[in-house]
Formats: sequence, structure tokens, C-alpha cells
Amino acid sequence: MIIDLRSDTLTKPTAGMREAMFSAPVGDDVFGEDPTVNALEEKLAKLFGMEAGLFCPSGTMTNQIAIRLHTRIQTEVICHKYSHIYLYEGGGIMANSLASVKLLDGDLGKITAEQIGASINPDDVHAPETTMVSLENTMNKGGGSIYTLNEIKPIHALCREKGLKLHLDGARLFNALVETGESPTDWGAHFDTISICLSKGLGCPVGSVLLGSKASIKRARKVRKVFGGGMRQAGFLAAAGIYALDNQVNRLKEDHARARKLGEMLLGSNFVSEVLPVATNIVIARLAGISPEDFMAKLAAQDIKSVKFGPDLVRFVTHYDFGDGALEEFGKRISRL
Ligand SMILES: Cc1ncc(COP(=O)(O)O)c(C=O)c1O
Repeated sequence: MIIDLRSDTLTKPTAGMREAMFSAPVGDDVFGEDPTVNALEEKLAKLFGMEAGLFCPSGTMTNQIAIRLHTRIQTEVICHKYSHIYLYEGGGIMANSLASVKLLDGDLGKITAEQIGASINPDDVHAPETTMVSLENTMNKGGGSIYTLNEIKPIHALCREKGLKLHLDGARLFNALVETGESPTDWGAHFDTISICLSKGLGCPVGSVLLGSKASIKRARKVRKVFGGGMRQAGFLAAAGIYALDNQVNRLKEDHARARKLGEMLLGSNFVSEVLPVATNIVIARLAGISPEDFMAKLAAQDIKSVKFGPDLVRFVTHYDFGDGALEEFGKRISRL
């Protein structure tokens, strides 16, 4: 058995999800006529108490559309230096929106209102105008760390006071919400736009939804078109999203429980000096006396796949296709390294 923990994007649709996809009513979504896409967009918007949603092929696209909405040429985005929008979206802030970025540091990938306040550019000829703050929850490179609503409130208040737009890369927001028990509507009330990924822990093959006001989603639809993200009978994909929201949200907790156990197993290895606090389904191990490449080669020899996540870091992500049997097997193999 290959144990593939490279990402929670690796999951394959379940039988129930495939059935839902197969039988979905569809239409041309560029004409706004796909009933299943419309239903998914409305369902998520309603869940978060936001006005509208836009189904897109990827989380990169929903994030990049949000950046386009909230910036102009010669303006600046504030985010953590580990943000997906900065590290892993191909330089899209610059390439898609001609905007600058100010990177902040902070524990486990998180930033505070105080830091943001000190980083807003002055109204000065030399500086790009700060127009947007982007947060990520859960924070991938922070080891799946969680922002609580209490941490968001002062950031939201600051953004309102300073006239900045606040975006959330919520690729794994449901992972955070099932842990904290916080309500999606409370989260929706604190952001101008939220990106939700369906193709991570929720187990869909494709898709992300951008949530926002009616006016911003109307503009987002145009940006999606120019980014090449207007899809036709996309309801087959949206049906997977509806199915996941109805059936596969609460089980994310199981991924988190397995991730905690996996973290403990890793700590038992002589090659691991530290495991970042495991808050959700992401486990980041710091290595001692071995390079990520060599450690990963040892794992690969045991049919375990992982990814390098820094000069001395390796990442493991638990997901739907990693059950208790696989966890037990992981433990056995790790002890053989
Ligand atoms: C935090 C975060 N945001 C955005 C994305 C982008 O999603 P996609 O791969 O669908 O473009 C990812 C992908 O792994 C992610 O981890």
C-alpha cells in the first residue's frame, strides 16, 4: 500500500460524490444557466451570510480574482510572508494585478492588527497605496494553524477604519471551523471576499468558490472570464461541491485526529527534532541530522510520500483516503526507518 501524504488534494471522489456528479442537471455557466453551479454558489453564499458566490476552477484563481478586485496598478497587498498568494501562485499579484506586496512575519503564519497597522503605507509619493490585506485560514505553511474569530476582529476593525479590503484565502476554512465550532456567518461578516476550496479536505476533484458582495462578484465574473475560468457545463463539478458540503464537512475532524497521531509517531523517529503544533490536517516535521531529500527517500523506500517544505522541513497532510489502517501502517513503517 502506498501511503500518499503529499496533499489533501490527492483524494478521489467517493461513490456517493460520483453519483451526484453523474446525475447533476447542467447548463452553460458562462450564460449563467447551469442550475447546479448556481445552486452551489447560492448555498455557500448563504452559509457564510454573504451576498453572492462564483465557482472557479481553482483556489489560485479565486485568490487572484480577489486580488484583482481589491488592488489597482501601483497599489499594495499586505500578507504574511508564508502566504499561498505570495509563495505558490506564480507571482500572480504582480503578473495579474500589477500590484506590490508587503510581507509580514509572525508565529505559525499568522499576522496581527498591530503589525498590519504599522505596515500601511503613508500617503506619500514614494509609496504604493495599501489597499488590501489577505489572510489565510488554515495557514498551510504555518502547519495548518488556525486563526480564531477573536484574532480576526481587530484586523477587520482596522481595515474598516483605514479603508482597506480584507480577503480570506479560506482554502481550508472548513478545517478551522470544525475545530473551533465558530459559525460561517460570523466569518462571512468580517471579510470582503472569501475563497473556499472544494478540492482539498472536502474531497472534490475540482473547484473553488469566491464569496463576496453582489457588486464584487459581478466584477469577479468578468475577471474570471479574462483569466480563462469561464466553464460551460460545470455543474458536473459543482455537484461534487454540493455533495461535499452536505456529507463531508464534519469528517474533517477525523483527518485532524489522525494528523495529531501522525505527529506523535513522527516525534518517535530519531530523524525528527520537532513537529509544529498540529491544529488541523497538516503536519510539519523539522528534521535533525538529515536533509529533507534523504529523509523523503527513506520514506519513499517504505512507500510513504511526503513533500519538502523548507531547508529542514517535510510536510504530511492527512485526508479522506488516509484511514485508520493507513495510519497504523504509517506508524509501523516509521519505526523501521
Ligand atoms: C492555502 C492555499 N490556498 C490556495 C491554494 C490554491 O488552490 P488550487 O491548487 O486549487 O489552485 C492552495 C493549494 O494547495 C492552498 O493550500
